[in-house]
Amino acid sequence: MAALGIKDTAKSSDEIMLRQAITAELDAINLYEQMAKSTSNKKLKEVFLDIAKEEKVHVGEFQEMLCRLDKEHKPAVDDGEKEVKKKSFAEFVENKNEKRR
Ligand SMILES: [Fe+2]
Repeated sequence: MAALGIKDTAKSSDEIMLRQAITAELDAINLYEQMAKSTSNKKLKEVFLDIAKEEKVHVGEFQEMLCRLDKEHKPAVDDGEKEVKKKSFAEFVENKNEKRR
């Protein structure tokens, strides 16, 4: 690509692994929350929800590491945050949370 004058945008394998790790953590959150919703066992529900919370922390850890490795990532995340603020996404989240109660 560089020979054609096109910037080589191939990412390092560490960046690729971090994105895969984030995806795996997000899938795990969905799985545990779904399991919590599906069980009638109160204690098991509590454990699934607690583990789901831990997975959210793991997302944050991997996200932070990715921000440090991929200098384009953090500015892009910040841009996304600004876009959502412009579109009153907060209202959508409030409505969603009200439905859960
Ligand atoms: Fe995890």
